[in-house]
Amino acid sequence: MPEVKSKYSPQEILRAIEELGKEEPWFHCIDLGDGLRTMQEPLPHLQNLWDGIAAHITHDLSGKSVLDIGCNAGFFSVQAKKHHADYVLGIDLSDGFLKQAEFVKSVLGLEIDYRKMSVFDVPKLGRTFDIVFCLGVIYHCANPFEAARCVESITESMAIVESAAVDYQTVADRPLWEFVFSGYEAPLSAGEKDERCYNWWFPNKAGLRTLFQAAGFPRVEPVYEVEDRVTIACYK
Ligand SMILES: C[S@@+](CC[C@H](N)C(=O)[O-])C[C@H]1O[C@@H](n2cnc3c(N)ncnc32)[C@H](O)[C@@H]1O
Repeated sequence: MPEVKSKYSPQEILRAIEELGKEEPWFHCIDLGDGLRTMQEPLPHLQNLWDGIAAHITHDLSGKSVLDIGCNAGFFSVQAKKHHADYVLGIDLSDGFLKQAEFVKSVLGLEIDYRKMSVFDVPKLGRTFDIVFCLGVIYHCANPFEAARCVESITESMAIVESAAVDYQTVADRPLWEFVFSGYEAPLSAGEKDERCYNWWFPNKAGLRTLFQAAGFPRVEPVYEVEDRVTIACYK
């Protein structure tokens, strides 16, 4: 992809990064060129996860459509576009993260659609996507099975799903989901109903795999694993 000269000065970019970090602290470290990044310290987790995913999808995504559920500031949407995906749609529940994503896209001069939408509403899109990313989202869902069914319903070819995971050494082959709601992250503000700020359920490896099989994916394979995170590829 040819380098596009940014329409922003470095000062404008730095000011916007600071401003956009007030509504939601930046979670995605994205390279904006000219030595500028959305965060000072890149999270190795994100790049490692992308490298793990990239090994399982075709390097050139020309002709492919990609849906990035829980896109945050767009790290994975940007990667998909940089790998020439025809169409990329990123969705998230957070206005603050979507503003960050719009800003990053604008600085990088990329064509990506972003929409405020929940994983539970994707069937309303009325279309399928060749590749669906559902990264770091399933454990935020009060009803992970329903979320998995929604992911299945809009996947044409393959969904990549990543989750926090618990490790039950003694029963590793038994699919388990631990209810972790209480005592985990508090709501952003008192009375907030929005479920995105909660962790609800953590699966073990077998639990994540089995959930997506039960949701209708005939083939589910491991992609990438670090100590407390698991990534799977779910094929149609
Ligand atoms: C842990 S972050 C993961 C971000 C990104 N996918 C990644 O892997 O780096 C979870 C993201 O999912 C979003 N989110 C949480 N619940 C959601 C839901 N029900 N539908 C869509 N997005 C959701 C949050 O706003 C947040 O941006």
